[in-house]
Amino acid sequence: MKRIISVLTAAAALCCLCSCNTVKEADSFVMNTGSSDNLDLQTKAVKHNVKAEKNEVSEKEKISIFDCKINAESFMYDGVKEVPDVTISYKNKKLTEKQDYIISAENSSAEIGNYKLTISMTGDYEGTQKLEYSIYPQNTEFTSYSSKVNEITVRWEEQKKADGYEIEYSVNKDLSDAVSVEKGSNNTSLELKDLPQNSIYYFRIRTFIKNNGKKIFSDWSEPFKTAVKKIEIKDGVTYIDGMIIVNKTYSLPRDFGSGEDPQALEAFYQMQNDAAADGLSLYIISGFRSYNTQSFTYNYFCNDRGKEQADRVSARPGHSEHQTGLAFDINSTSYAFTDTPEAKWLAENCNRYGFILRYPEGKEDITGYAYESWHIRFLGTEKAQEIAKSGLTVEEYLGITSKYDE
Ligand code: DAL
Ligand code: ZN
Repeated sequence: MKRIISVLTAAAALCCLCSCNTVKEADSFVMNTGSSDNLDLQTKAVKHNVKAEKNEVSEKEKISIFDCKINAESFMYDGVKEVPDVTISYKNKKLTEKQDYIISAENSSAEIGNYKLTISMTGDYEGTQKLEYSIYPQNTEFTSYSSKVNEITVRWEEQKKADGYEIEYSVNKDLSDAVSVEKGSNNTSLELKDLPQNSIYYFRIRTFIKNNGKKIFSDWSEPFKTAVKKIEIKDGVTYIDGMIIVNKTYSLPRDFGSGEDPQALEAFYQMQNDAAADGLSLYIISGFRSYNTQSFTYNYFCNDRGKEQADRVSARPGHSEHQTGLAFDINSTSYAFTDTPEAKWLAENCNRYGFILRYPEGKEDITGYAYESWHIRFLGTEKAQEIAKSGLTVEEYLGITSKYDE
């Protein structure tokens, strides 16, 4: 976007009032004195000479600054340039600085701010004009976003020269009816919560600097579009962002599932091979568990340690990820596994094969389950690596809960 400099005042001198035609006619007469129609011309000459004499004090007419076209733009801070490029033309002819006009910058600086300059016409031109221009802050662009079920977080690059950022967002593509949010210079992200599910939002951002109580803005960024994630339930199965979600909040129908997911199994075998090449042995001790099997498992824990403790380590039937066929317990389900080289290798490498450690240490309040170093969940390499990189649990990444209804 180009910013045209605004005209402050227009104090140009008025046009010269002499008659240029008269002068020109007199000149042409002089050129013609040697012609055969001498007499006649001489008569004319007298007439015109008289006229010329009468206008002795007059000068050649000057062209007013008002008849010239001035192009000048405010510009973005670059730390070097002090005044904008000004071009002045008259009837499509570009005028020459110093010969036709002089520019004086009254309070110039290379810093972001509002300034003035004066154009004084000279030579064949006359008049002056004051222009106001700005050196405005550098533009900011969004760098990334993450969306959850009811949230969107947008992030942007930090500007060294900024007092803050203005972000606008709207459900309308043209940013109409946008909500405006201001963030201080030490912020590089905006988190919006409690948004309606599956809405698409458009964002834009600009930088500002405070200058004598007034804000000087950069141009707006390119618009940025993102959608709030949607919870979809099909045949009683919950999908978010293309992933089947099963935890204490989201369950599966009793008859769902029939075995391990073939893609998850293939990824596991690849991982198993690679671990073996490192001298480590990984194997699945529990893969798919039907509703009935889970019922048996959960009841075992309830009898063993009571319902409250059972709920920390075992899912109620219909709430186990094992019923999806996408979750595997590796080598052991006891904490003895946690300190083995295999557990360490699994934690460090499983993302590369599309798995995540689903119940990390210290996240029981969020996942609903105590730490399980052995329980991996297949998500595909892209999602697994993205979630691992975020350092978040699936619940945090999606912005969902894991709590029983009771
Ligand atoms: N141990 C996990 C939570 C399950 O029972 O699915
Ligand atoms: Zn498990």
